Amino acid sequence: MNTKSINNRSSLHGYWSSRFSFILAVAGSAVGLGNIWKFPYIAGVNGGGAFVLVYLLCVFLIGLPILVSEILIGRMGRRNPVASMRHLSLESSSLPYWQYVGLAGVLSGILILSFYSVIAGWSLSYIFKSFSHSFIDSSSTLQNPIINDAGSIFDDLINDWKVMLFWHTLFLYMTFCVVARGIKGGLEKAIRILMPLLILLLVGLLFYSIFNGHFIESVYFMFAPKFSELTASGVLIALGHAFFTLSVGMGAIMAYGAYLPSDLSIGKISIAVVFVDTLIAIIAGLVIFSVVFANGLDPEQGPGLIFVSLPIAFGSMPFLGNWLGGGFFAGIFFCLLSLAAWTSAISLMEPAVAWLIEKFHIDRFKAALIIFLIIWLVGLGNVFSFNLLSEFTFLQGTIFDNLDYLTSNIMLPIGGLLIVIFAGWIIKEERLSMQLDKSKGFCFKLWLFLSKYIVPAAVLIIFVRSIGILSL
Ligand code: TRP
Repeated sequence: MNTKSINNRSSLHGYWSSRFSFILAVAGSAVGLGNIWKFPYIAGVNGGGAFVLVYLLCVFLIGLPILVSEILIGRMGRRNPVASMRHLSLESSSLPYWQYVGLAGVLSGILILSFYSVIAGWSLSYIFKSFSHSFIDSSSTLQNPIINDAGSIFDDLINDWKVMLFWHTLFLYMTFCVVARGIKGGLEKAIRILMPLLILLLVGLLFYSIFNGHFIESVYFMFAPKFSELTASGVLIALGHAFFTLSVGMGAIMAYGAYLPSDLSIGKISIAVVFVDTLIAIIAGLVIFSVVFANGLDPEQGPGLIFVSLPIAFGSMPFLGNWLGGGFFAGIFFCLLSLAAWTSAISLMEPAVAWLIEKFHIDRFKAALIIFLIIWLVGLGNVFSFNLLSEFTFLQGTIFDNLDYLTSNIMLPIGGLLIVIFAGWIIKEERLSMQLDKSKGFCFKLWLFLSKYIVPAAVLIIFVRSIGILSL
């Protein structure tokens, strides 16, 4: 490593053009399949209420301080996560081994994207299914044609590995195209329009479910805590999801923080992102459970939950005639979901690509191509988890189940733990306050206290408590 960059710190990959575009980029990374696909189904599987409460506590008390730490480390380091952690540890007279936290993050990003892209592929394929009215089958003689269709259409999709492989490849290729060009050009522009549209559509759906679904039941399911249903493993899953949904624990936000101009307030940005992310997850949960209960579906059905329940919601929205009704709105919804997934996937790929560029001095296109190929290959295991290899199970289940569990519930929490320890204990307090708040006000002190003591203790306790159920 050259020593020049330690003294002369500026971003190699340029800067965000404004505070707003940074917020949008971080929010774009945070808001994705985690909020709309994953949160409702894991809340369903883990019994609702009490799980949601633990999740909210984890997001605000653990996730938020880590989010601040990641942006901070990124901005101080101004490099890819591996190099930033290395530089900062040397500057703080600590050992350079901290760089391996960054490296583990690069690996987590690759593993997460290998299944993220498969699920995002489902979403892409649903755009076409929706616009072609696959969900509205009025000719069927079944009692409730839409429900049967939605379930079997989903089963047909996951049973056909060739179709899934096609969509997985397409989605990953789309991600490659953005990362290969440098994330700022296209990304900033796209997110500005997408995020507000997504929120608008979700709020529209919320109104729909208030009037047409079993909304009260849904509120009750999500917010009435039934502590008897909460298990130690449920708490670990809630913790893991807090990391997953905020994109923390692997350096994605650290990589974005490296491009953040020095004069912007990290604290305010982080709070804004956490609010938007949580709001979207809660709205999505309310909408989906309201449809689930109204149609007698099983809230515990797992990864297929939104792909079965939402088409039903849209399919039974016949206003403006069938043509403009369900199919049209479902199509728009899956467009937005795919785009939200896209902006998240970009952040999963960026750390690995930035690291390859800086470490091996190759150009961005080549680096992105190499990472694309690796993720695509690992992704095959996830595609086959739903069909050819669905019987091949170990530890947590299929290859997909294991990769999801390993990354969300083990790698991200450990990564986040080390990142927050690094920020709280290794970097000198004076330097932290220069970045966050020169006057060391209440919020700064609170963040430092949480980062030094509460977050590490909480993550460790949850880990130790659930070690028994890990059965590793
Ligand atoms: N937060 C995203 C979601 O909720 C997924 C994601 C993007 C992510 N970047 C990440 C998860 C980094 C963990 C780490 O869909």
